[in-house]
Amino acid sequence: MKKRTTSRSQSNSRSTARKRPTGRARPRSRSPLSQEWLKEFLSEMLAVEHGGVELYERALEELAHDELRARLEQYHEQTQRHVELCEEMLNAAGGSEGEMSPGAEAAEHKAQGLLSAQVPEHMKDINNLENLVLAETKDHWNWELLASVMDKIEERDFKKVVTRAVREVRRQENDHLTWAQKMLTKLATEAAQHQPEMEEGEDEEEAGAEQDL
Ligand SMILES: [Fe+2]
Repeated sequence: MKKRTTSRSQSNSRSTARKRPTGRARPRSRSPLSQEWLKEFLSEMLAVEHGGVELYERALEELAHDELRARLEQYHEQTQRHVELCEEMLNAAGGSEGEMSPGAEAAEHKAQGLLSAQVPEHMKDINNLENLVLAETKDHWNWELLASVMDKIEERDFKKVVTRAVREVRRQENDHLTWAQKMLTKLATEAAQHQPEMEEGEDEEEAGAEQDL
C-alpha cells in the first residue's frame, strides 16, 4: 500500500529520514474538546435563547396578522424551554448563568440592537419576523455546531445532558428558522402587492400639496 505523505514530510525525507510513530495515528476529530470553550459557547447559546424569548414576546405584542399567533406562541414556549436546557448544560459544564462569556455579551448586544429598531406601524410584523429570522439563524447554527462536537465530550454525565438536549431541540430549531423565513417571504410578498392604507387626513394633505405646486 502506498504511504501517505505530506509536502512537509516529503521535504523532510530528502534531508533526514524521519520514522513515523508506530501504531495508528489518532484522528484529529477525536481530540477532546476544550472545557473552557464549551463553557463559553454554552453561555453564548443561553444568551441567544434569552434574546429569542424577548423577540418572540415583541412579535406577539405587536402582532397584526393574527393567523401567525398560534405558531409564535408555540415557538415562544419552546424557546423558553431551550433557555432551561442551556442553563442545565451550562451548569453541567461547570459554568453559571450569572457569568457571561464575551460571545454571550455580544449575543445580548445584538438582540438588544434588533429590539431597538423602530419601524412604521404597517411594517411591524415584517420587522419582527426579520428579527426572528436573524436570531433563529444563529440559534439554529449554535445547536448544529453543538451536535457536531458533542461526541468529543469526554465526561459521561455531561455528555448525556448535552445529547438529551440536542435530541429534544434540534428539530424544533429547524422548524423555527424555516417557518420564520417562510412567513417573512409571505408577508413581504403581500406588502409588495399592496399599498399601505393611508392615514386619516393623509390623502387631503397630499391633495393640498399637489394644488400648491
Ligand atoms: Fe432555540
